[in-house]
Amino acid sequence: MSFINMKPGTLLSPTPVVMVSCADAGVAPNIITIAWVGTINSDPPMVSISVRAARHSYDIIKNSGEFVVNLVSRELMEVTDLCGVKSGREMDKFAENGLTPVPVPALKYAPAIAQSPAYLACKVTQAIDLGSHTMFLSEIVDMGIREDLMQDSGKIDFVKADLAAYCHGEYTGLTAPEGFFGYSVARPEVLKRRLDKK
Ligand SMILES: Cc1cc2nc3c(=O)[nH]c(=O)nc-3n(C[C@H](O)[C@H](O)[C@H](O)COP(=O)(O)O)c2cc1C
Repeated sequence: MSFINMKPGTLLSPTPVVMVSCADAGVAPNIITIAWVGTINSDPPMVSISVRAARHSYDIIKNSGEFVVNLVSRELMEVTDLCGVKSGREMDKFAENGLTPVPVPALKYAPAIAQSPAYLACKVTQAIDLGSHTMFLSEIVDMGIREDLMQDSGKIDFVKADLAAYCHGEYTGLTAPEGFFGYSVARPEVLKRRLDKK
C-alpha cells in the first residue's frame, strides 16, 4: 500500500475534546471547547491546553492563571459543540445550556461543570506562544469524579462515563475496551478475567 502525500496539518486523531471552564475577578464564568489538550507530565500531574489569543477565554485564563478541564460524555457532545462555536462575549454558556457551575475548593475563580463525568482543576505554570495558539502548561491541583462513576473497587467506570472523542472535525463515541495496559504480555488467566467478562 502506498501513501498519498499531503500538506502537513493537525491530523493527529483521535484527540480528547473537553469543555474548559474559567472565570476571573469580576468576570462571569465561561466555557470554551478545546481539542488541543493533552497530558504532559505524571509527577506532578500536568496537562496543557492550546488557546488562540482571540478567544474570550484566553484573557480570563491568562489573567486568572487557572481553569478546569471538564471531560465530555456523549450526552454532552452537542452542548460541547455549541460552546465551541459561540463566544462567551455573546452568551452565558452555563445558563443557556443548562449547565451548573460548581465551586472547586482548590481554585479561586474557575468552577467545574456539574454535568461533566469528571473534572481536573488546573493552575497555569507557563504560557508559551507557539504562533496560532498559546499553550498553557498547567499543574492538576485537584480532581473530581462523578459519584455514580466510581466503582467499589476504586476504579472509574469509563464504560458508563461514555466519553466522547474528536476525530479531525467529527465527534465520536468510544467502543468498549478491547485490551488493557500490558495485555500484550499478560498471562492467559489474567486475560480471561479482565476481558472475558466484558
Ligand atoms: C471541537 C472543537 C475544538 C476546539 N478546540 C479549540 C482549541 O483547542 N483551542 C482554541 O483556541 N479553540 C478551540 N475551539 C474553538 C473555541 O472553542 C471557540 O472559538 C469558542 O467559541 C471560544 O469561546 P470563547 O470566545 O467564549 O472563549 C474548538 C472548537 C470546537 C468546536
